[in-house]
Amino acid sequence: MQSKRARLDRFISVRTGINKKNIRLLLAQGRVTVDGVIARDIDLQVNEFSHVVFDDQVLQQNQPIYMMLNKPVGVVSATVDDKHQTVIDLLQHPQKTELHLVGRLDLNTSGLVLLTNDGRWSTKLMEPEYKVSKYYRVTLAKPLTEDYIEAFAKGFYFDYEGITTQPAVLRILSDYVAEVELTEGRYHQIKRMFGRFQNQVMALHRYQIGGLALDASLAVGQSRLLTEQEKLLLIK
Ligand code: URA
Repeated sequence: MQSKRARLDRFISVRTGINKKNIRLLLAQGRVTVDGVIARDIDLQVNEFSHVVFDDQVLQQNQPIYMMLNKPVGVVSATVDDKHQTVIDLLQHPQKTELHLVGRLDLNTSGLVLLTNDGRWSTKLMEPEYKVSKYYRVTLAKPLTEDYIEAFAKGFYFDYEGITTQPAVLRILSDYVAEVELTEGRYHQIKRMFGRFQNQVMALHRYQIGGLALDASLAVGQSRLLTEQEKLLLIK
């Protein structure tokens, strides 16, 4: 999801229908403010969260929204779906239809999902260069052995994408339960990684992204806004 940036004269022209040539004059007359400051520069870039006022007319006043959801199994990570309930259906927020997902979880995966209307933030979180870790708890059909640890750290070649997966950390918690830390999110990645050992994933739960853990007091299916501090925990 890209952020929507536009040059100020074009932004005002689209919103008001006023010719761009006349907008230069309006700006020179000091009739436009952006985020409370008089704007005179036609080249000024505004984004979807800039507060733009022309005379007494508010042209835009969107607030960025950042939420976490405790996704249940059986809910689809999409905004619309014909068959299943979606993560958006679960949200309790008046502007929920304006939000998009920051990374998907499979239908049968549970846990932490982030949603926002801030395209710049979500793009950054998904950028491979930021290497934001995602942490999963995995329950397997067959017992784990120590050799999984090295295999996950080395990476697996995925034929379909023609890539080798980034080093992943695997911690064995018990015979059938492990934690996995990934810095990327390939299609069915964890299931495919354990698939190399013919070991089926029976349950998969994401409990943390970056430094942000799923709020333990958030019941399955519930969501809430992130705090300012929590947002800072996501990108180092
Ligand atoms: N890996 C998977 O296989 N599924 C998920 O939902 C997330 C990571």
